[in-house]
Amino acid sequence: MTTQIERFSFAERVSHWTSALCFLYAAFTGLALWSPRLFWLSGVFGGGETVRAWHPWAGLIFSVALGVMFKRWAGQMQLDQDDQVWLAKSHLYAQHIEAGIPESGRFNAGQKMMFWLQSASAFFLLLSGLVIWFPEVAPRSARLIAILLHPVCASVSMGGIIVHFYMSTLAVPGALSAMVHGTVSRGWARSHHGKWFREVDGR
Ligand code: HEM
Repeated sequence: MTTQIERFSFAERVSHWTSALCFLYAAFTGLALWSPRLFWLSGVFGGGETVRAWHPWAGLIFSVALGVMFKRWAGQMQLDQDDQVWLAKSHLYAQHIEAGIPESGRFNAGQKMMFWLQSASAFFLLLSGLVIWFPEVAPRSARLIAILLHPVCASVSMGGIIVHFYMSTLAVPGALSAMVHGTVSRGWARSHHGKWFREVDGR
């Protein structure tokens, strides 16, 4: 019996890492463009003009990669009754107390919430970003809304990604390796995503 099971397909990993790289580039260059105090960051990425030219393209590629993930995962990210209980008891999960917390499917309720938060935020980032990119096609009111909405959504996304980064690297050992290599051990699957493990294990 094989000890490893597939958690993420090659296509899932490519779309995830494409979105992650573009997000990080867009986040750092966005901070450089946003505040004169952070403009020094542009030096790390080739200077102000380069950053101004590439920031929107990185945002666009990020949106496309996230769109691919959305199409693939939206169906699996619906919250069920166990997820509601999981969320109500998430303070126990945070303290590593597992008693009374329902087993998770392929994604736990926290991951599902993060998915919807990032998807909604990315949608409004794209919309407002397009208005800022092509100001001549939008009315003045839309431009004003876009200028306000873009940094608000960027802050929400960056805050979410800091939590996501912590959860998927330090808090849950083995998760990062799954997103790199595509597989997890049967023990990892059973302990972190019990319902999903039984589905793929067929027992
Ligand atoms: C910044 C560096 C990032 C790292 C190190 C990282 C790492 C990971 C890892 C290890 C997983 C697998 C979790 C598991 O096996 O359960 C994952 C899943 C996922 N990632 Fe990322 N990620 C990053 C950035 C992003 C970005 C920018 C997005 C999109 C906005 C994103 C969206 C997702 C989604 C939707 C999932 C599936 C649900 C979840 O596990 O939360 N990730 N990520």
